[in-house]
Amino acid sequence: MPQTVVRPSAVIVLAAGQGTRMKSATPKIMHAIGGRSLVGHALAAAQSLAPEHLVAVVRHERDRVAAHIEEAAADLGVMGLAIADQDEVPGTGRAVELGLAALPGDLEGTVVVTYGDVPLLTPETLQRLVAAHEADGNAVTVLTATLADATGYGRIVRDADGLVERIMEHKDALAHAEATGDSSYVEIAEVNSGIYAFDAALLRRTLPQLSTENVQGEKYLTDVLGMARAEGGRVASVGTDDVWEVEGANDRRQLSDLGRQLNERVLRRWMKDGVTVVDPSSTWVDVTVELAADVTLKPGTQLHGSTTVATGAVVGPDSTLVDTRVGERATVKRTDAAEAVIGDDATVGPFTYLRPGTVLGEEGKIGAFYETKKVTIGRGAKLSHLGYAGDAEIGEYTNIGCGNITANYDGVNKHRTVIGSHVRTGSNTVFIAPVTVGDGAYTGAAATVRQDVPAGALALNAVDQRNVAGWVVSRRVGTASAEAAQAAGAVGRGEATEAAQD
Ligand code: UD1
Ligand code: CA
Repeated sequence: MPQTVVRPSAVIVLAAGQGTRMKSATPKIMHAIGGRSLVGHALAAAQSLAPEHLVAVVRHERDRVAAHIEEAAADLGVMGLAIADQDEVPGTGRAVELGLAALPGDLEGTVVVTYGDVPLLTPETLQRLVAAHEADGNAVTVLTATLADATGYGRIVRDADGLVERIMEHKDALAHAEATGDSSYVEIAEVNSGIYAFDAALLRRTLPQLSTENVQGEKYLTDVLGMARAEGGRVASVGTDDVWEVEGANDRRQLSDLGRQLNERVLRRWMKDGVTVVDPSSTWVDVTVELAADVTLKPGTQLHGSTTVATGAVVGPDSTLVDTRVGERATVKRTDAAEAVIGDDATVGPFTYLRPGTVLGEEGKIGAFYETKKVTIGRGAKLSHLGYAGDAEIGEYTNIGCGNITANYDGVNKHRTVIGSHVRTGSNTVFIAPVTVGDGAYTGAAATVRQDVPAGALALNAVDQRNVAGWVVSRRVGTASAEAAQAAGAVGRGEATEAAQD
């Protein structure tokens, strides 16, 4: 049989739950791992099926959650997202009923249901679920997993032939054991993941009939399986050996466990593609980051957002890059960067802070204890040590001396500094912006550049040096410095004469 990608008619993502165990002012599904919110991961998995319709069911913190989902969906390129509001009737069955109501009334085909708080579900597993569902003509296909501890999960109840008969919720299985002494349901290790493929018409027929006559007083979506069987439909299961795929994030502990697991998966994928990760336990890479083959990530590296690293580049140790582009063979060491562009063969760090708008040209250098912001630095230019460059443009092969700063802010407005190519600036030069320095110009050490410097000129404005002879001997009597000076032949001058110039 040819492997065709099966597109479901719709995916309904359930996201109405409150998530109280997170103990957070932020709705549960908005908590993030791997650079994406929980519901963002759910939407990405849903989108991978290219469904005709995508619906998210919301209720708790409705407006905030709906706005977040719309934004996350837009980021993922989801077309035609619908938001459905759950009412006061609780339960997953009611959530899907209202999700379905947001879809065309004559919708046919497969409707997939997933959860907004299950972030590690993979496109492959979802695709496998839908493919099996359609190939076998099932009414319902449920994704199941076998757990060492099934507490809290709905149990998969199978008939004598091994077919899925129904799902019994954990609390109902406990109640049954209490009432009858039969704990066989509680002991079932195969559980309902909460991820299913349903026939659309089946959902339309059965959901309105769901009752709340159960231990939790909720409309159980799981009851649809028994009802499908009762009307002669085929109910089947697809299993996954990977229990992380079906795990929800209900509290901070699970959030962190899932976050680490996701990160391990992301790193494994990059290592498979030729990236060296020296220490996976201290390296964190968002799902949205792009790495080329032969990139090396050293310990303590965190890559976030839309960061990309080109081939041969070495990032780390101890570097955090957000939405930053690193060129081929560049090295970035102990650096904090956001919205920066680092050219091919450039070097950055150690202890360097690149703020948004920093663009470092090929073979350029930004060295130790430098802060940059909104600055374009030409090819081969060097800002080697101790300084600040902001709202500036620095030309090719210019060398900025130690301790230079652009004084870009007059307390009210920001001004630009424009420095040409092949310029050499002396240590501790301060550029009082707005100011322009021409190509090939020099500045003296400690120059304060207030006026434009023409091409090829040397800018000097330091006052002549004045040595007050004997000052230390007279004014720092008894100090080690005075003693050292005296040993070297220095003589005190006294109050009256100390201001005199030599
Ligand atoms: C549900 C299943 C259970 C399964 C488990 C897997 C039912 C009745 N039970 O359990 O068989 O093993 O998931 O995790 O379906 N939600 C809504 N509206 C609601 C209630 C829930 O949108 O009224 C959403 C939640 O936000 C969450 C998902 O549905 O994303 C599951 O809700 P939850 O309360 O965790 O499900 P359980 O009842 O624990
Ligand atoms: Ca749950």
